[in-house]
Amino acid sequence: MTTHPNEKRSRFDPEPMPRRDFLGLAAIGSMLAAFGLSMLGMLKLPKAAVSASPAKKFNVSLPDTLPEGEAFIPPGRNVAVFRDKEGVFAISTVCTHLGCIVKTSANGFDCPCHGSGFTRDGTVRKGPAPTPLPWLKVSMNGGTLTVDEDTKVKSGTKV
Ligand code: FES
Repeated sequence: MTTHPNEKRSRFDPEPMPRRDFLGLAAIGSMLAAFGLSMLGMLKLPKAAVSASPAKKFNVSLPDTLPEGEAFIPPGRNVAVFRDKEGVFAISTVCTHLGCIVKTSANGFDCPCHGSGFTRDGTVRKGPAPTPLPWLKVSMNGGTLTVDEDTKVKSGTKV
């Protein structure tokens, strides 16, 4: 309820707030609300969306039943490990075209992305992959087989 300027106010009536003061307080209130909401939003930012990648050097135990010349792909790794009469070797399963993960097939490996094909020793059977799948360093320490995904070796290197 508004009072006429000439009307006498009771001493119990609150002081009327000037418009300028009201707008100033409203602006400060809005600023504090915006700051508080932005702080709430920022609480979500620092959380990592992905986990750290696993170490590139890892131990593998080949199943005793693994047939000669058949690929064993350790879970969570992009490597195919083979055993034959001459020893053990590992080949990367990352396609040399654009980096998709190749799948084992009757002919070796096939890339699901653009159709490249590789033989069991990584040689390009069908493009567009420009180069063979790289062979990776395998070492044997005692009875432990270690594959190093970061170290490429000459194809045909077996331990
Ligand atoms: S990424 Fe494998 S064929 Fe393109």
